[in-house]
Amino acid sequence: MADQYSGEWVDDLGEMEAIRDGLQADHRMALKEGASAGHRPLFLMSVLQHFRDVQVGQPAYPRINGTYVDCTFGRGGHSRALLRDLTESSTLYALDVDQKAIDVAKRLARRDPRLKVHKASFAQLGAVLGDVRVQGVLINGGFTTDSKLDATRGIKRGPLDLRYDREAGMPCSEWLNTVSFEELSLLLRDTLRFSVVMCDRIAFELLSEHRRVGGLTTIKQVLTLTQRMLPPKDGGRDGGSTSLVLAALRRIINNETEDTAQALRAALGSLVIGGRCLVICQGPVDRSVVSDVLSEYDEPPDNTAVDADDEMLSKLYPLAGTRLPYSAKLVCRPLALTHREQSRG
Ligand SMILES: C[S@@+](CC[C@H](N)C(=O)[O-])C[C@H]1O[C@@H](n2cnc3c(N)ncnc32)[C@H](O)[C@@H]1O
Repeated sequence: MADQYSGEWVDDLGEMEAIRDGLQADHRMALKEGASAGHRPLFLMSVLQHFRDVQVGQPAYPRINGTYVDCTFGRGGHSRALLRDLTESSTLYALDVDQKAIDVAKRLARRDPRLKVHKASFAQLGAVLGDVRVQGVLINGGFTTDSKLDATRGIKRGPLDLRYDREAGMPCSEWLNTVSFEELSLLLRDTLRFSVVMCDRIAFELLSEHRRVGGLTTIKQVLTLTQRMLPPKDGGRDGGSTSLVLAALRRIINNETEDTAQALRAALGSLVIGGRCLVICQGPVDRSVVSDVLSEYDEPPDNTAVDADDEMLSKLYPLAGTRLPYSAKLVCRPLALTHREQSRG
């Protein structure tokens, strides 16, 4: 017997498919625009899904409702996709320290008043947001693909600059004049997680070569020097270990570890209860920043630290020593890149 509701099912399904196809077309367009501006966003679908989960008010499916922050606008792949999904009354704050990112963001904001652009480090997130409460924050530090490829930018090739914000601090080539052997070795240890001996060796060679040649000025010089000291990773020819040293210097020059921790704390302070902060980690150091900061916001589980006095309790569970009305927890296991994302390195 024919199902009397079958016509309605088909209509419902048709509507769902049309919504899904519309979203897919929007996201595809955002990806395309981001890529042609110089960078393809990672984990795009997961980011949108997490933000969809924490929207305010009545679900506005297929739109997302609320106030969100993209701490690292880059070339706007994530922001563009979010703007396509956000309702008209929503707001998206975009931060970046790279002037090119800000120029791209401002052009977009001229067409879309929901986008509020700030040239600021994510370490200043608290000051940017003030009392504003947000549903979601995205932190995706590092650099964009076009900056990596730009031989004048000094991120992965060209001059030994390494700064994301070229108006702040000093290029690595100058900074090497100011840092001592002990300081550099310690900073490398925190960032590289190589042995003390290896970090001493790298620090010593870098500073000696810097003095010997009258100043290291190019990224190539650093790569050549580290290649002499470190065997290529896994016996390969890509100089994996040598680019780790460069990545460590970049992290140090941009104060990435401290700034990411600060951004995360500010994000937790600005989120509504139930809000989410998504961190796209650049590697193990970022991952430990996330777990270190989260451990500051752990609630003592029942029946733990029962013998601890107040001082010990705040040492074990820093949240207990504060008047903060919220805690924080990991809501999902770390996500893996797709095969295509991995193959792009
Ligand atoms: C991987 S890209 C982000 C890509 C972006 N999600 C997109 O879809 O285009 C990293 C961006 O973070 C920015 N950045 C790095 N450190 C920052 C900081 N401390 N504060 C704000 N932005 C930062 C860089 O300038 C760069 O534009």
